[in-house]
Amino acid sequence: MKDQLIIFDTTMRDGEQSPGASMTKDEKIRIARALERLKVNVMEAGFPAASVGDFEAVKAVADIIKDSTVCGLARALDKDIDRAGEALKGAKQSRIHTFIATSPIHMQMKLNMTPEQVIEHAVKAVKRARQYTDDVEFSPEDAGRSDEDFLCRILEAVINAGATTLNIPDTVGYSIPQQFGATIKNLIERIPNSDKAIFSVHCHNDLGLAVANSLSAVMNGARQVECTINGLGERAGNASLEEVVMAVRTRHDVFDCQTRIDTREILTCSKLISSITGFPVQPNKAIVGANAFAHEAGIHQDGILKSRETYEIMRAEDVGWSANRMVLGKHSGRNAFKSRIQELGFEFESEAELNDAFARFKQLADKKHEIFDEDLQTLISETTIETEDEHIKLVSLKVCSETGEVPNAVVTLRVNNQEVTGNSIGGGVVDATLKAIEQLVKSDASLELYSVNNVTNGTDAQGEVTVRLEKAGRIVNGLGADTDIVIASAKAYINALNKLLNPNSRQHPQKSEV
Ligand code: KIV
Ligand code: ZN
Repeated sequence: MKDQLIIFDTTMRDGEQSPGASMTKDEKIRIARALERLKVNVMEAGFPAASVGDFEAVKAVADIIKDSTVCGLARALDKDIDRAGEALKGAKQSRIHTFIATSPIHMQMKLNMTPEQVIEHAVKAVKRARQYTDDVEFSPEDAGRSDEDFLCRILEAVINAGATTLNIPDTVGYSIPQQFGATIKNLIERIPNSDKAIFSVHCHNDLGLAVANSLSAVMNGARQVECTINGLGERAGNASLEEVVMAVRTRHDVFDCQTRIDTREILTCSKLISSITGFPVQPNKAIVGANAFAHEAGIHQDGILKSRETYEIMRAEDVGWSANRMVLGKHSGRNAFKSRIQELGFEFESEAELNDAFARFKQLADKKHEIFDEDLQTLISETTIETEDEHIKLVSLKVCSETGEVPNAVVTLRVNNQEVTGNSIGGGVVDATLKAIEQLVKSDASLELYSVNNVTNGTDAQGEVTVRLEKAGRIVNGLGADTDIVIASAKAYINALNKLLNPNSRQHPQKSEV
């Protein structure tokens, strides 16, 4: 029997810390259900003390998830731990993850504490967390740049205080695989009570080494990896779940452990996260990129036809690519639509919401005859977008593009229940449309990112547009989808404006009320 490698997903916590990737409570519920189907062992649902919104989201996830442990992050402070304990009260299996920095630079510059004070805080935090749950994780933040002797001391102390998982974060992505693996091995060998806890790693990707560092740690005794779908996360992101899982599975000759992940759910999760956050997946991304299993060179195609293993080390269908099939069409009925959406993990809250989504589905099926799972995911994202506070709505859009003429757009919006019309010229019709909207709304936001992705293949595919806006340090992502990419662009821009200008919408989780 091989050891189990625990997969701890932090897409809803560290992933959410990517600029503009804040998730609503409903979005977290959808993600949590997808992660439960993926069979992650632990899902970190957020940082309950960060804001009321974060608390509510963690609580909602804790209340519905049964087959994975639900975890909440807390600094080594009584108020954070109490908040996490409260949010997780309804969970079938809960974990509190508490952390404090241990590198010299963090202790001096950020915490202004001596190493002894840091140990004292850590021990107190773990003991307090144990009053809420038997499953307590401790992280020495910036362990990648911490002194190994000090790590041994603090980790021994927190195990004695009741920590059951010790997570070693490479917070700033500074480590190198061989050295990081050696650190894990040394810690396990040197800490006298190390057999009482599971060693975990949490690697950031600043040098593009997050997965390599995580795998090196696994080879040296780590039995939990913290990772995110699509490698989402602070700055360059975290170790990508799909890469870690498929490396361990594909190279079972090298790893003496295995995960319980249902790999066929990987692609659905990847697409869901991409569509909720507006972070597209690069085509050459391992496992989940559009080209990950595409063979272009003639010599490769020839080899694959003769024997698949000549150029393929994994089967596309094992990570969910075969799920990319037509599921519904224009003649599909309401029940078929509802049950497929439920299979994708989404529950309609009311008949009205179902009716609205079904009406959109029919409109889409008229324009695009084959409806895939990806189309349904996008459609649900759109339905959720439209049920959020909307001060600005698109009423109509007319664009003109002609060779030799300057492109222009005429846009009518409803802003706080009043109809306004404006027009603009632009470098192209998308540019003209966004300029016309901006003239009407006068948000003064700067456009940080504009990207279009096709949801499925073919020229009749929906285009999914992401727009990132920044104003006074606040960053939001807007999403819009349509078979017409100019309309999708207008929807995405308006969605971003609604988030930016809505005083109730959630801030970056760690910039808000902490
Ligand atoms: O990167 C980091 O150090 C973290 C900790 C909270 C584990 O995210
Ligand atoms: Zn992190």
